[in-house]
Amino acid sequence: MALVTTTEMFKRAYDGGYAVGAFNVNNMEIVQGITEAAGELNSPVILQVSKGARSYANHTYLVKLVEAAVKENPDIPMALHLDHGDSFEVCKSCIDGGFTSVMIDCSSMPFEDNVRITKQVVEYAHDHGVVVEAELGTLAGVEDEVSVEAGSESYTHPDEVEEFVTRTGCDSLAIAIGTSHGAYKFKASQCTRNEEGILVPPPLRFDVLEECIKRIPGFPIVLHGSSSVPQEFVKIVNQYGGNMPDAIGIPEAELRHAAELAVCKINIDSDIRLAMTATIRKYMAEHPDHFDPRQYLKPARQAVKDMVAHKIQNVLGSAGKA
Ligand code: G3H
Ligand code: 13P
Ligand code: ZN
Repeated sequence: MALVTTTEMFKRAYDGGYAVGAFNVNNMEIVQGITEAAGELNSPVILQVSKGARSYANHTYLVKLVEAAVKENPDIPMALHLDHGDSFEVCKSCIDGGFTSVMIDCSSMPFEDNVRITKQVVEYAHDHGVVVEAELGTLAGVEDEVSVEAGSESYTHPDEVEEFVTRTGCDSLAIAIGTSHGAYKFKASQCTRNEEGILVPPPLRFDVLEECIKRIPGFPIVLHGSSSVPQEFVKIVNQYGGNMPDAIGIPEAELRHAAELAVCKINIDSDIRLAMTATIRKYMAEHPDHFDPRQYLKPARQAVKDMVAHKIQNVLGSAGKA
């Protein structure tokens, strides 16, 4: 199977009450870890590339790595998606360069500008058989060079979604309901603490999600910033020389619930970074004499695979849906 768009994936996910995982890729080990997990669990998967990933690894290398993964996993529906495209030009370059899906993220612009640029991308993308994700509402956290303070994010206004989707013709919509990017999703002051002193985040705004669903029934919704920042990995990082105090993510049960509703795409990057870093830190500490990168990248790749397998089975519900 060649790379596919997300159209069929989302239709089946919507009807089946599950979500497709969209995992960020930056190098070979990450591509392999994600797609081996999806292959073994017979799950559809979205591989997404940020502007930062393109400047780190180079567009062509990333496309070729993903093409290799498609060849190795011929029965798995895979989409190659641009994450947080911030202009028509970057979207065009990915559409022309082999991507099957792009995100145009003008969510920090005024509504009318967001509509205008999104519509321009949609017209070009659809002419080339590519689908478009757009965004309404602002997440907290860091996306490439844009940084939004926790507490300064703005939830999506359900009143705007129908007009936005109709006027732009976008194929899926990312909304802001309290998730955010990175490994520090909430300030301590926004949370409570459990008996072990671990931060407990405020719940996602399911009321906002449900209002959005009412306005655009049947339309695929996307959640960014959906890493759960598993505490066992934070502990390993901190135990082996790292320093990630009060790292905190979105509880998995909330994401599972969102996947049962209209959320068809769930974005996960930080958990992959955390799994790799924890594994490499531990490996380095335990093998101070090793210097062959394959020695520590092999368990790091396995950690990516295990993390993605866990998400597919316990969060997304997409196992067996290829
Ligand atoms: O949305 C943010 C993603 O985690 C990508 O992060 O821009 O550092 O590649 P990046
Ligand atoms: P996390 O930082 O929560 O993994 O979110 C990733 C994301 O939304 C990529 O677009
Ligand atoms: Zn994002």
